[in-house]
Amino acid sequence: MRISCPPFDPVHCDDPDLLDSAFYAHGDPHALWARLRAENPVYRCDPGDGREPFWVVTRHQDVSRVLRDYETFSSRRGTMLCIVDLSMPDIASDDMMPDTDPPRHRQLREPLNRALTPRAVSEQKEPIREIVRSVLRPALDGRTIDIAQEALMFPMAFTGTLMGLPQEHWPRMAELTTRTIAYDDPDYSTGSPTSTVRQAHHELFEFFREEISRRVPTDPGTDLIGILRSMELDEGPLSERQLILNCYALLLGANVTTPHALSTMVALMGEHPEQFRMAREDPGLRAGCVREVLRWSSPASHFMRYATRDVDLGGGTIRTDEPVSVWLGSANRDERAFDDPYRFDITRHPNRHLAFGIGPHYCIGAGLAQLGLRVFLDELLDLVAEVEPAGEVAHLASNFVAGYKSMPVRLVPRHRNAPTVVGSE
Ligand code: HEM
Repeated sequence: MRISCPPFDPVHCDDPDLLDSAFYAHGDPHALWARLRAENPVYRCDPGDGREPFWVVTRHQDVSRVLRDYETFSSRRGTMLCIVDLSMPDIASDDMMPDTDPPRHRQLREPLNRALTPRAVSEQKEPIREIVRSVLRPALDGRTIDIAQEALMFPMAFTGTLMGLPQEHWPRMAELTTRTIAYDDPDYSTGSPTSTVRQAHHELFEFFREEISRRVPTDPGTDLIGILRSMELDEGPLSERQLILNCYALLLGANVTTPHALSTMVALMGEHPEQFRMAREDPGLRAGCVREVLRWSSPASHFMRYATRDVDLGGGTIRTDEPVSVWLGSANRDERAFDDPYRFDITRHPNRHLAFGIGPHYCIGAGLAQLGLRVFLDELLDLVAEVEPAGEVAHLASNFVAGYKSMPVRLVPRHRNAPTVVGSE
């Protein structure tokens, strides 16, 4: 998705088609969101083709309220606007962590959460550094690399490790997870949108089924799949189906988001070299730089909830059972929440971005993603003097993920004998 700034080209937003994936590949969602925030912050979008209307919430304060108030805005009927009919029941309801509400949600989340705290994942720091170096070092000879493509494998390498997934499957799994969210992107579609998603799900679920059955029944193991296998729900272990769905949630959460924050970081280093020079000179600014890259990129564009009662929000009345989508990319540019929101500023303080959501479903992988981005930043600053654009950028056609398909760049190396500076913060 294009990350645009004002002054925006005039856009036709009288009847915006927020479901249309092509709009995210070729249109200007930031321009539309700015207008919605100003004129219609809780907007009822009616696709007008028989699909169910849904609410579009674009201001930071309203987005936070929806995500926090799980009693009024439930996750049980699904959390993504997608190709399926929004009035249909969700097959993962109450079984897959993202599609449950507290208190059941806590039972699924807490054991995994303990394994994913920033402290718990800090052991991954050096392995992640090796992965980052293996991506960056070959690119220092002046060749053009497509950082968007390189980045796709990055989360697979650490989430695949934490889940104990065999490495030979990683490239295919990365491809399949992207297909589930870019089902009508010509480069990822394998038929109709529905069949693309079904085929990708089928193959991914088979990977997980095989992986689960490969494990010794009496020894669940200590990796994330092991934790899922030792969990209790409804007074017993998770069923095979519940195991598969939760493996899928973890992998999808990591794979479809992290690469785009990383590519955006590289693009930003090209566009705002002075900000990255500051971060190079002062490692104390690097955590802020990662936060600002997350605000700027907002890789997960929206999430969805269903109203459990009639509720007034931002001047509109949402009725029981109606779907409500919240737009994180828009909330992260809300002029009511951020000073000069279209300025990329690594010293921004406070920076209450919503890239990881907020409330009970706050991203469980946030610690891992931030560690990965931080190590990537440290290595980028250490190894690369400058980023030069080297061709046309292409955006992913997806209403869910704000991402890149292609970003050709050249990385200009720093002096070969420059000392290695790794931030301490
Ligand atoms: C830059 C990277 C990432 C971004 C921007 C991101 C974004 C988000 C957001 C916005 C949510 C909230 C969803 C909601 O409210 O319904 C979420 C939840 C989730 N994320 Fe992430 N995520 C990232 C990385 C990861 C990683 C690395 C993992 C895997 C370890 C992961 C796994 C999940 C899971 C399983 C959930 C559901 C949590 C729950 O329902 O309690 N994410 N993510």
